[in-house]
Amino acid sequence: MANDRPGAGLTALVTGASFGIGVDLATCFAQGGYDVIVTARSLKALEDVAERLHRDHGVKATPVAQDLGAIGGGKALLDALAARELAVDVLVNNAGYGHAGSLTSAPIETTLGMIDLNCRALVELTQLLWDSMLAKRRGGVLNVASTAAFQPGPLMAVYYASKAFVLSFSEALWEEARGTGLRVSCLCPGPTASRFRERAGTGKTRLAQASPVMPSMPVAQEGYLGWRANKRVVVTGMRNRVLAQVAPMMPRSLVLRAVRQLQTPTHDA
Ligand SMILES: NC(=O)c1ccc[n+]([C@@H]2O[C@H](COP(=O)([O-])OP(=O)(O)OC[C@H]3O[C@@H](n4cnc5c(N)ncnc54)[C@H](OP(=O)(O)O)[C@@H]3O)[C@@H](O)[C@H]2O)c1
Repeated sequence: MANDRPGAGLTALVTGASFGIGVDLATCFAQGGYDVIVTARSLKALEDVAERLHRDHGVKATPVAQDLGAIGGGKALLDALAARELAVDVLVNNAGYGHAGSLTSAPIETTLGMIDLNCRALVELTQLLWDSMLAKRRGGVLNVASTAAFQPGPLMAVYYASKAFVLSFSEALWEEARGTGLRVSCLCPGPTASRFRERAGTGKTRLAQASPVMPSMPVAQEGYLGWRANKRVVVTGMRNRVLAQVAPMMPRSLVLRAVRQLQTPTHDA
């Protein structure tokens, strides 16, 4: 493999890289010559991903299992990497899940666990790695939010709010990184083929029935290339880009009613 690829000598840590968009994000970084550390809870799936990335792209690929929804999971992961003398140049915060339904339709553990994974672990990993990235003046952070970040989401309230947090946090860090050599981007996919829908239970909503679903590889490619270009926000797909521009400019009461309609299961509508 040619070692003049942009990531030669650098390592990207990709969370949620056992299934879905994270696998393709890890693939994009490996194609770019980055060594990769892939993490999630499912060790066997991570081992398969790592083996494939090493074989296909000639990079070092290390699987490390960790529950990032557990309090302190981010620190535990970084301690495990330090023990193996694995340094991180690029952090890809992709792991996340949603839950569709009214606020009390999920057990409180599911609701708080979503915040712990989507927000808490993402901040934990970012803060713990930030100073070493600044010192090296290279690398950076790619956070995965969602088009859900651009408006509140009745009937999926906590998920939408968690992604608004990720978007706001990422944009602020993009500015803080100005002139430091670090790149910070926030990837905002719309509906994408993965296991997300199954876990979130969004399959029966009007939104799911009405929206085109993008395959995960083009979503990951847009994210990787956007990050390489230090694009602050990367919304995937033309339709999603238009909606993300328009939603914040519309009257909130109208948007809230429209999203509620879209998040209503078709048999309840
Ligand atoms: N698919 C969509 O329509 C869509 C749209 C917008 C945004 N997104 C965002 O894209 C990101 C990736 O989701 P996806 O669509 O690829 O869903 P997915 O197929 O369900 O993948 C989620 C990944 O997160 C990992 N994960 C889940 N819980 C975890 C935990 N407690 N600790 C560590 N890792 C955990 C999963 O692996 P394990 O189960 O092995 O832990 C898996 O690798 C998420 O942040 C999601 O919110 C998805």
